[in-house]
Amino acid sequence: MNPSLAAVVLCAGKGTRMKSEQAKVLHPLLGRPMAWHVLSRAFELGAQQVVAVVGHQAEEVKASLAALFPQHPLSFAIQAQQRGTGDAVSSARGALTSFHGAVLILYGDVPLLSLETLQRLVHAYKSSKGPLAMISTRPPNPTGYGRVLRGPGHVVQGVVEEKDASLEQRSIPEVNAGLYCVEAKFLWGALEKLTPANAQGELYLTDIVAQAARAGEVTVVEAGHVETAGVNDRAELAERAEVLRARLNQRHMRAGVTLLHPATTFIDEGVEIGPDTTLGPNVSLQGECEIGSGVTIGQGSVLTHSTVGDGTEVKPYSVLEDAVVGPNCHVGPFARLRPGTRLDERVHVGNFVETKKAHLKRGTKASHLSYLGDAEIGAGCNIGAGTITCNYDGVNKHVTTLGDGVFIGSDTQLVAPVKVGDGAFVAAGSTIVEDVPPGALALSRAQQVNKEGWAERQKKVLDGMKQPEKPKQPK
Ligand code: UD1
Ligand code: CA
Repeated sequence: MNPSLAAVVLCAGKGTRMKSEQAKVLHPLLGRPMAWHVLSRAFELGAQQVVAVVGHQAEEVKASLAALFPQHPLSFAIQAQQRGTGDAVSSARGALTSFHGAVLILYGDVPLLSLETLQRLVHAYKSSKGPLAMISTRPPNPTGYGRVLRGPGHVVQGVVEEKDASLEQRSIPEVNAGLYCVEAKFLWGALEKLTPANAQGELYLTDIVAQAARAGEVTVVEAGHVETAGVNDRAELAERAEVLRARLNQRHMRAGVTLLHPATTFIDEGVEIGPDTTLGPNVSLQGECEIGSGVTIGQGSVLTHSTVGDGTEVKPYSVLEDAVVGPNCHVGPFARLRPGTRLDERVHVGNFVETKKAHLKRGTKASHLSYLGDAEIGAGCNIGAGTITCNYDGVNKHVTTLGDGVFIGSDTQLVAPVKVGDGAFVAAGSTIVEDVPPGALALSRAQQVNKEGWAERQKKVLDGMKQPEKPKQPK
């Protein structure tokens, strides 16, 4: 914890170029809103207070971000009109009246900034004699950015915005990343002195750099142009997502997870994975997932908000949503576990099996082609191929309950509500509409009849009915 650090994160922008109904800072990156990544860095850095400045869609932005940081000192300031970056920071002042340390200024749409770079910025501020440290970068194309103005001895004198810059100034390759660490007292004083006397008629935050240069000195930390890049449109959103994804995949690999093809592995921020787990190509782990150790998740599987226990194998092309899978299970290939699925340990759910609100206890197997919905299934059961729980009567859903050690023959329909007792057998092809007592055999199909020699007799009948083909008469 760094008790003398606060952060102001600018999130008021409309993000016109996103062409979206949704506020820019709420667009997801690795399953979390863009601004989450920035706020997280500020908290990791030890900021004792973080103020998000909101404006466009203020209520939605506030609600989403507040929900993501329930335990953190996060507050919000409203910037009703977008009168420039200086005005945006000023609107956070009320939330920081009793704060006297250093204020970190970040953008909600610059989500790639690393903790390490921010630590360098704070360190530079602390070791500097002046009231302000800032981040600069040298992008391949500096167009659009503010340029860092340096005087004799390379000393920083200020920042000039592209639209206010002379031709000569526009040739400066070092640009302002827009991220600062500033002494609070100096900051509020400097903001009061801003005027909109510039090409855009805005209150430029950048004007405080020249004030800091006059007051003492400005320390600059250079950072890579990739991590300081912002998001302006969806093409940039995709580019930033790629960088974040590669970084997170690296982190998992270094923590002992094998990714057979990292370039096509999609892991969201809220995912935890144990060591010695292997993810195949094109695996997607979305939302909040908890994957144990020694797990294998096969190619093309998509898991959303799901838990998978140690040693379980999820074979290729399985889809899990809000499912809890115990240890040492076998799932798939082509299994679909829908919300409310719970598999205890050593359960097998094979190809083309769909489960929903179904609890399968230890060692139960449903290996092929089944629908198990609203079902409570005991331990050690065998569910034959093609078993269907008929859980819906057109109005209500009903529950199917199976005891332990039940054998359900293939192609059985269990018409719920219905119960099958411990150790009972259901013959293949049955339609079960009444409860089956423990240990019983239930059999509901018609008696089989074999008619000996029927095929031969039938062939003769059909042959007799066939008209002999008339030979064609020449005319
Ligand atoms: C700003 C800097 C520029 C720097 C660039 C880096 C100023 C005047 N210029 O320019 O030197 O090179 O960032 O990306 O600061 N915002 C608000 N309220 C406002 C205006 C902006 O919340 O009234 C937010 C935006 O949503 C955005 C951030 O502040 O997240 C930056 O605003 P933007 O307009 O993109 O600044 P630039 O013109 O790019
Ligand atoms: Ca910008």
